[in-house]
Amino acid sequence: MTATAQTPRRTATPDRTVTFRIKRCDGPGKPSYWQDFRVKVPKNSNVISCLQQIAAEPVTAGGERVTPVVWDSGCLEEVCGACTMVINGKVRQSCSCLIDDYAPADGDVITLEPMSKFPVVRDLWVDRSRLFHNLARIKAWVPIDGTYDLGAGPKETPASQATHYVLSTCMSCGCCLEACPQFNLEEDRDQWDSSFIGAHAISQARLFNAHPTGSELKPDRLDVLMGEGGVNDCGNAQNCVQVCPKHIPLTESIASIGRQVTLHAISKFFRG
Ligand code: SF4
Ligand code: SF4
Ligand code: FES
Repeated sequence: MTATAQTPRRTATPDRTVTFRIKRCDGPGKPSYWQDFRVKVPKNSNVISCLQQIAAEPVTAGGERVTPVVWDSGCLEEVCGACTMVINGKVRQSCSCLIDDYAPADGDVITLEPMSKFPVVRDLWVDRSRLFHNLARIKAWVPIDGTYDLGAGPKETPASQATHYVLSTCMSCGCCLEACPQFNLEEDRDQWDSSFIGAHAISQARLFNAHPTGSELKPDRLDVLMGEGGVNDCGNAQNCVQVCPKHIPLTESIASIGRQVTLHAISKFFRG
C-alpha cells in the first residue's frame, strides 16, 4: 500500500480579521505603492468578496480614507480569466481563491499584486491586449465564410475530441505568460510581433491546426511560429504548465508545434 503525503489543512477561524497588503498604482506609468486594509472575513470568502468589502469602505489599516481599489473580473467562476492577479507571490484567479486556504487565522496577511507582464491600468487591473494580439497573430480561429447555414461540418472522432477538449478550455488568463521567463513586459506595440508569443498562443495553434476546418490556416500559423518570437524562443523552463489553472498540457503543445514547425520548414525548403 502506498502512503500519500498530504499537507495538513488548517481549520479557518470564523469571522477573523485578515490584512490585505495591496500593491496599488493610480494609472499607467505612475509609480506603485503598497497599502494595507483590514477585512473582517466570513467563512468561505474569496479574494473578490474581500475586495468588494474594501471598495465599499476604502479605509487603510492606518485609518486613512483612500480611493477604492480597482480590479477586473467577469464570470466569478474561473472561466473568463479577467480577475487574474498575483496572490502571495503566485499568479492565479482571485475569484476562486478562498481566504480559508490562504489566511485561516486571525491576523494573517494576504498580498495582492497585479500581473507584472502586462501594463497596469490601475491597481490590480492590467491590460491583456498583447495576449489577445498574439492569438490574432496565429489566427486562432476556424475560418468560416459568413454566418449563413454552411451545412454539416467535418466529423471529429471521440478520441480526437477528448485530446483537444482540454486545449479548448484556455481562458486567456495570462498565468502562463506571467510565469514564463521568455515573456516580458513589452509596452511598445511595435515590438509585439517580434517578441515571444507565449505558451497560450502556441497551444491554441495546436488546437486549431488539428481542427478539420481550422487546419486550412495551418501554414499561416506555422509561418508565424517559425519566425522571430515563435516557438524556438521557448526556453523550455516549463513554468507555464505548472501554473495553468486549466491543467492544459502546454509543454506537449510546445513539443507538438515544434515538430510541426520543423516539418513545415523542411517542406518549404524543398518547395523552394
Ligand atoms: S516552457 Fe516555454 S513557454 Fe513555458 S514557461 Fe518555459 S519558456 Fe515559457
Ligand atoms: S494556457 Fe492556461 S495559463 Fe495560459 S492563458 Fe490559457 S488557461 Fe491561462
Ligand atoms: S472573474 Fe472570471 S475567472 Fe475570475
